[in-house]
Amino acid sequence: MIRLATIGTSAIVRTFLGVVRGVDGIVPAVAYSRDLDRARAFAADNGVAEASADLHALLSSGEVDAVYIASPNALHHAQALRVLRAGRHAFIEKPATLTAGEFAELVDEAAAHGAVVFEAMRSAYDPAFDEVRRLLPELGVVRAVSFSYCQRSARYDRVLAGERVNIFDPALGGGALNDLGVYAISALVDLFGEPTDVSASTIPIASGADGAGAALLRYDGFVAEVSYSKIAASARPSEIQGERATLEIDHIAAPARLTLRRADGTAGVHEIRDAAANTGAPELNMEFEVRRFLDLVAGADAAPDHARTLAALRTLERVRAHSSPA
Ligand SMILES: NC(=O)c1ccc[n+]([C@@H]2O[C@H](COP(=O)([O-])OP(=O)(O)OC[C@H]3O[C@@H](n4cnc5c(N)ncnc54)[C@H](OP(=O)(O)O)[C@@H]3O)[C@@H](O)[C@H]2O)c1
Repeated sequence: MIRLATIGTSAIVRTFLGVVRGVDGIVPAVAYSRDLDRARAFAADNGVAEASADLHALLSSGEVDAVYIASPNALHHAQALRVLRAGRHAFIEKPATLTAGEFAELVDEAAAHGAVVFEAMRSAYDPAFDEVRRLLPELGVVRAVSFSYCQRSARYDRVLAGERVNIFDPALGGGALNDLGVYAISALVDLFGEPTDVSASTIPIASGADGAGAALLRYDGFVAEVSYSKIAASARPSEIQGERATLEIDHIAAPARLTLRRADGTAGVHEIRDAAANTGAPELNMEFEVRRFLDLVAGADAAPDHARTLAALRTLERVRAHSSPA
């Protein structure tokens, strides 16, 4: 049984704990917060037995096997290093780190301590993408990809009111590319590999972060367009266009429905799950990443997982480096 500690007391940790409870082999053991009262209140609200505000004591206590890290992005690397150096497994929210170099360091550290390091990229483990892969040959030669994740954040109103908000704070690794664009980039490199060329435009907001942006990523024979926003919303689906058919994906982070429209006018709809499940909580597909994490802890080879994370992080870095403000 893997005894899990959590770092962070926000909504995603609450959702994650709900998902973990439905999976055998892992049990929430300790809730960590920087503030002990908050840790206690969070633990009580979420049925977690222990609370802690002392990460060092928690990691050396022998009561925890793995730590789910859901702090602001810029903190992941340093916290994961501490977790791995204590010989515990690190289950890190996306994006795992801000650079591929930082993640490579975690991979080395994990190997040195016989631990697992894992990026919680929930979409990568969603069986919907197995179905996408199964349908790809029907598309013929791929000629265009358009992946989009644009969802206006309620927290943007606080930025507009002049507040400092973590998810829009560049010093904490906030912004639309890291928060939502990462899903599209991860799916893209997972399906098609790394692009040969990248260009991008970004929409800066008052906090200094990117509120939105768009990237063009060139591949052999096609161009992929990725758009992401936390300041405006879109119901536009994602799409892979081939010479024989186009595949429409309704939600790039948690596909509920895939629609294949063939050049001959016929179409096929592949229902993955009830789309209503995505209306409130697309994060429920975290279940699949939890199961994969347990497989890795049990000894499965993490090399493909690490390769995907590194490719996505390298591509995010290229998008950032080639972004010009609009
Ligand atoms: N997989 C998904 O669907 C999903 C969804 C949402 C977010 N996420 C990921 O989860 C992570 C957290 O995102 P979030 O929006 O929940 O972040 P957040 O609310 O800004 O912060 C998360 C937690 O980190 C601690 N924290 C806040 N500011 C901190 C600071 N300056 N220094 C140290 N700790 C701080 C807080 O816990 P205490 O104050 O109690 O210590 C807070 O509850 C991010 O990596 C994000 O990408 C994933």
